[in-house]
Amino acid sequence: MKGIILAGGYGTRLYPITKSISKNILPIYDKPTVYYTIAILMLADIRDILIISTTQDISAYERLLGDGNKLGLNFVYKIQESPCGLADAFIIGEDFIGNDNVALILGDNIIYGETFPDILHEAANLNEGAIIFGYYVDNPKSYGVVEFDKNGKVISLEEKPSAPKSNYAVPGIYFYDNKVIEIAKSVLPSARGEIEITDINKAYLELGQLQVKILNDILWIDTGTYDNLLDVSNFIRSIQREKSLYIGAIEQIAYEKGYINREQLLALAESMSKSGYGAYLKSIVERI
Ligand code: TTP
Repeated sequence: MKGIILAGGYGTRLYPITKSISKNILPIYDKPTVYYTIAILMLADIRDILIISTTQDISAYERLLGDGNKLGLNFVYKIQESPCGLADAFIIGEDFIGNDNVALILGDNIIYGETFPDILHEAANLNEGAIIFGYYVDNPKSYGVVEFDKNGKVISLEEKPSAPKSNYAVPGIYFYDNKVIEIAKSVLPSARGEIEITDINKAYLELGQLQVKILNDILWIDTGTYDNLLDVSNFIRSIQREKSLYIGAIEQIAYEKGYINREQLLALAESMSKSGYGAYLKSIVERI
């Protein structure tokens, strides 16, 4: 399975912070936001990752992450000329996806929970169709919303409905089979002028090939507002202190998955030796 991180957009809710820097380069406590999204794809055993961002911002990702070789990953970069919708990721990513299945994660979505790696594994083993998630929220009007019947079967999906039919929002991580490319190409722009991922999910629902898994005991937050940015930073800081284990430490995950060896991890730690993050990576070698 291939992975796509959609890290473009304008980030207008975070102005002036994001006038000259991409939202997903901003720190969540001690790491750039994009680290957390890469970590999620790595936990799903995805090693080929396409990062999509704007003409202005793509070079910042390239400077930060390079070709991925040092992590035993493969990073590829593409520009989205204008933020015309999430479904555009599969059109931009067509050559990159090739004949594979694909996972898409939005660059500003942070998802954390002890059971989440198992959920990711299961989703990444998808054979046919689509797997998306449902997450209980108080303000469903801001999201794609999924409606279930009393047996838990999905009966409808709506994008930012004014009268939501449930409190279950669809978080920004999606797993699809290869049909998604053709489905994305057939999606027409919505009233707000975007090609909507909800329309892709509706197409899978009509085919009878959409699974929606409810995320319980898991934190999902998007970092698109000042308060969320601060709240999630505080959350990560307190969990890391409590557990003495870092969240979103992509170098550690690469080491634990055997993508890099001890010497390679130490070299990465050494390159950041003046930071607490570098010191943490060094300590990992001694622990495991
Ligand atoms: P949003 O948060 O909806 O958009 P935004 O980042 O431009 O923020 P704002 O509302 O403050 O202006 O997008 C969710 C994520 O998806 C975010 O990481 C940006 C990304 N995105 C794209 O890369 N391309 C797109 O066409 C869209 C719609 C979003």
